[in-house]
Amino acid sequence: MTEEFVDLEEIPGVGPETAKKLREAGFTSIEAIAIASPAELSAIGGISESNAQKIIQYARKMASIGGFESGDKILEKRKNVKKMTTGSKELDNLFGGGIETQAITELFGEFGSGKTQLCHQLAVNVQLPEDKGGLEGCAIVIDTENTFRPERIIQMAKAKNLDPNEVLKNIFVAQAYNSNHQMLLVDNAKELAEKLKKEGKQVRLLIVDSLTSHFRAEYVGRGTLADRQQKLNRHMHDLMKFGELFNAAVVVTNQVMARPDIMFGDPTKPVGGHIVAHTATYRVYLKKSKGELRIARLVDSPHLPEAEVVFKITEKGVEDSK
Ligand SMILES: Nc1ncnc2c1ncn2[C@@H]1O[C@H](COP(=O)(O)OP(=O)(O)OP(=O)(O)O)[C@@H](O)[C@H]1O
Ligand SMILES: [Mg+2]
Repeated sequence: MTEEFVDLEEIPGVGPETAKKLREAGFTSIEAIAIASPAELSAIGGISESNAQKIIQYARKMASIGGFESGDKILEKRKNVKKMTTGSKELDNLFGGGIETQAITELFGEFGSGKTQLCHQLAVNVQLPEDKGGLEGCAIVIDTENTFRPERIIQMAKAKNLDPNEVLKNIFVAQAYNSNHQMLLVDNAKELAEKLKKEGKQVRLLIVDSLTSHFRAEYVGRGTLADRQQKLNRHMHDLMKFGELFNAAVVVTNQVMARPDIMFGDPTKPVGGHIVAHTATYRVYLKKSKGELRIARLVDSPHLPEAEVVFKITEKGVEDSK
């Protein structure tokens, strides 16, 4: 992926009018166009589907995205994958060394299992220098349940000897009011990340806490289930694109309710079912244990064994249990 900026107007067939429309629709960079579909581009109006195809092909060439790639090239790309610390070595080991960029990590578990706490911790840790397990980057948080607490960030930043004010300045939070708004905020996050990049700041973490609460609340009943899955699918793909575009880690939470009144099926199944399960690269089930202790279990990883570790959540944040 190229790091430098190419103006959209440099693409053959894209005049100033089209470039303006593209930007307004969130396609602010060559990379964003390179990973779009022709239907997506032509949907913004003024671009025929065949022209969209050509524009995308050109953008792919410029951004060296798409087509077949040899294994060594993929290995090269994988070398750009970075990992950040959770604050607990045990938990990092579960992830094979930390939370990965260019991947979606799903944290699922019951209320109080520590999903939001871990998100706060990652928003702090991403800012650490690389030799301390950070990515020297900023975080964007899409908050759907109004649970982002700057006070908690301050506590965690102090525990890491970071300037709490500076840390807060590098976390950008938006409340999502419904599922549509939530999806739209990914586009806004893209714009913000582009803008920050021009200022020399890299967004290395995108958090959606919670991924599913709005979807769950808005889509009840079987009739609307397919509709919900389709939108969730699109949302997950948008998130994945963000991760690839900015070499950022994407972390989403998903609450599961242990409901004793449910007699059939698995009451602790996360919302979103196979859609979320198949798109998330890493899925971690979090569980409350005694007091500060939490159990994390990695499920469905492409290359890591299913395993379980214990960590704790204290005033300082996420820590090893021993
Ligand atoms: N300042 C703090 N010091 C120590 N522990 C804390 C602190 N703040 C929160 N916790 C712990 O984190 C728990 C809350 O976890 P969290 O909010 O991450 O849950 P969650 O998984 O996001 O739940 P939900 O599904 O309801 O969103 C509290 O019950 C407490 O145990
Ligand atoms: Mg929460």
